[in-house]
Amino acid sequence: MEPAARARGIIKTYGDVVALDGVDLDIGAGQVHGLVGPNGAGKTTLLGLLLGLATADTGTLEVLAPPVAGFVDGPGLYPTLTARQNLAALAALHREPTAGVDEALAEVGLTDVAGDRVRGFSLGMRQRLGLAAALLTRPRLLVLDEPANGLDPAGKRHVHRVIARLAADGVGVVLSSHRMDDLAELCSEVTLLCAGRVVFSGPVAKLAAEAGELGYGVLTSDEARAVAVASGTTGLRVAGTDPLVVRGPADALDDLVVRLVHAGVALRELAPVVSPLEAAFLALTGAEEAS
Ligand SMILES: Nc1ncnc2c1ncn2[C@@H]1O[C@H](COP(=O)(O)OP(=O)(O)OP(=O)(O)O)[C@@H](O)[C@H]1O
Ligand SMILES: [Mg+2]
Repeated sequence: MEPAARARGIIKTYGDVVALDGVDLDIGAGQVHGLVGPNGAGKTTLLGLLLGLATADTGTLEVLAPPVAGFVDGPGLYPTLTARQNLAALAALHREPTAGVDEALAEVGLTDVAGDRVRGFSLGMRQRLGLAAALLTRPRLLVLDEPANGLDPAGKRHVHRVIARLAADGVGVVLSSHRMDDLAELCSEVTLLCAGRVVFSGPVAKLAAEAGELGYGVLTSDEARAVAVASGTTGLRVAGTDPLVVRGPADALDDLVVRLVHAGVALRELAPVVSPLEAAFLALTGAEEAS
């Protein structure tokens, strides 16, 4: 795969705060690359560097497939202009034909409000207009900071469709998100940052495999007896009760189900308490698990 951007050994400090501490990152053309990490991990800082909004203290950062477009901390828009006027102004600035404006508005689902002043736009509408603005400049590298933030389900579908379409056209996309389900849906690769360092980088499926042993919630017809049965099941640990949460290898879970049925306890639900991706996030960032 052709590289769209490459970062090596990036260090970025703000006074005493080390926002990025030796970060390597590879974004491929046609790849949707997700950046995740706890608040303050350095995601916005890294995306800002890619957009050229700041420079690294040390390290090398190459955008190999320009032009780059996108935004961090919300798109910059003129509040007194309408959505269409905002994009027309941008098109004029970049010497792009204004013909693309309505197309871009349609792509993000803003056709109906194209003539409305941006002042009255909701967060989700601003996010979508920001994406439309980025589309206008026909980027080869698209950088988006929490693009799904504030989007209703229809808006999210529009944005996901646009991102998938761009990637299919060979655009490299890098985006940050706090929603692990969005990442699974959208991204092929993911980089997990924690306190300015990369703690994981690779395919989404590989991140899920880092989850280790998951906690499973067990809903039955008789909680008290289910706890007793679980406690007596070899290889299984009871991580919590009311509701019952157990941990253990798959064969121990199988054994639990069989033993519950033999004990006359009906099993109503057996499911991971947190998704594998979330569990991996918590494990790799050293956060306490919920169960
Ligand atoms: N302009 C700045 N001046 C001072 N410190 C900053 C600045 N920008 C970021 N930082 C610090 O750098 C660190 C990384 O911040 P950053 O905004 O990149 O995190 P983030 O991963 O985007 O977090 P979030 O999930 O909350 O958006 C934080 O400790 C933050 O306080
Ligand atoms: Mg941020």
